[in-house]
Amino acid sequence: MRYDSVIEAIGDTPLVRISPAVHGLRNIDLYAKLEMLNPFGSLKDRAAWNMVRHGLAGARERGETVVELSSGNTAKALALIAGIHGLPFKSVTNRMRIPETRELLLLLGAEIEELPGQSECLDPHDTEDPLTVFHRQLNQPGGAHLHTDQYFNARNTEAHATGTGPEIIADLDGRAPDWFIACVGTAGSSTGVARALRAHDPNVRVVGLVGQKSDFIPGIRTADEVQEVGIFDPATYGTIEAVSSEEAIDGMVTLLRRCGLLAGPTGGAAYFGAVRHLRPLDAGLTGRRTAVFIVCDRAEGYLGYVRQRRPELFGRPPGRNSVATLTDTEIRTAPVIDVADAQKWIEERRPLVIDLRGPFAYAALHIEASVNIVDELFEELVRGGLPFGKGQPVLLACPVGEQSARYAALLTRMGHPDVRSLAGGIIAWRDAGAPLVRD
Ligand SMILES: Cc1ncc(COP(=O)(O)O)c(C=O)c1O
Repeated sequence: MRYDSVIEAIGDTPLVRISPAVHGLRNIDLYAKLEMLNPFGSLKDRAAWNMVRHGLAGARERGETVVELSSGNTAKALALIAGIHGLPFKSVTNRMRIPETRELLLLLGAEIEELPGQSECLDPHDTEDPLTVFHRQLNQPGGAHLHTDQYFNARNTEAHATGTGPEIIADLDGRAPDWFIACVGTAGSSTGVARALRAHDPNVRVVGLVGQKSDFIPGIRTADEVQEVGIFDPATYGTIEAVSSEEAIDGMVTLLRRCGLLAGPTGGAAYFGAVRHLRPLDAGLTGRRTAVFIVCDRAEGYLGYVRQRRPELFGRPPGRNSVATLTDTEIRTAPVIDVADAQKWIEERRPLVIDLRGPFAYAALHIEASVNIVDELFEELVRGGLPFGKGQPVLLACPVGEQSARYAALLTRMGHPDVRSLAGGIIAWRDAGAPLVRD
């Protein structure tokens, strides 16, 4: 295999059978499409290259920057491709929650802009969401950038309709699988592969997987975000099922420890979701069937993510004081305070104000005299005991008040008498016209 550019190595990834001794299905052959073996590390290499390649020459002439709304794999692939072509790359996101990804992007020379919003995914119902606003601005003419626009760009889907999907059919000796199971982020890969498979055999059943409500599996939507935006069309999927981060990690551990596959959390989610969906169907089958799921990327970039949720996998004691252990009642009854009362409380009692957002969002605008402890770090601190005395009043703030309510519930359970969550978060504080400062 000899190439003039590493870009030529994108695609043609292996399709590997998972041993029935591992998954336990008796009548279904289950295959993993190893997209993590693309040269930049994920299935996004295909989409990134297909979206950007036509614009590269013009962008160089005009001195433009490649820009994408991504907090992960698309940004990684685009940063590398832009570097090869002598172009700068900028990644814009509502919060980059995986520190290893941020570090790697910086090492690749990318510029990162983090906005103070919530979701990684564009929300069409929230026209004021900072990411949505930024996306609108990017699409106005006259900017000095090449915007690849992965949520709306048909070339994202096309990369998989012409590459990933046909490769699966070819590797199954010209047959489409009976089931195709994939995690849904922009939806480019699942939509594109589904299109190619259905063109071959309209009976293919497509299972889309998303993260559970209020949970976080890096790179994909949650059940709260299953709304039509850009290339995502719910009609692509026969069913859309939710996987928790716990289940994704269980699946990941099986792929790592039993199958020799260095899969990341969404690979684990896809394996877990596939077996869970197929198991009840398997029993009633008479002939042999085939199913394919996608392993999007690799494990190494998510060690912190897994350690935080499953310290016992790293030989550490399991966390008693973890938000993952909260009950619905504890979360519902968490002590909250609205903006007006919080302002009075700050005046009178001078609570320690802890802002749980990412450092870029905090630097852009925050409550005066607040301290910034990113939620992942705060969770680590809490696990080791309270990071402040019980006599200390504490006001917790996050983008919209959900995360802070969870930590307020957790600290209350731990016996902290005077902790409150800012209702509606920094967004409500800003909308109420309460003062914010920037670094
Ligand atoms: C780790 C990971 N898995 C799965 C996906 C889903 O891919 P798609 O955007 O094609 O839906 C993504 C998308 O970014 C991802 O980063």
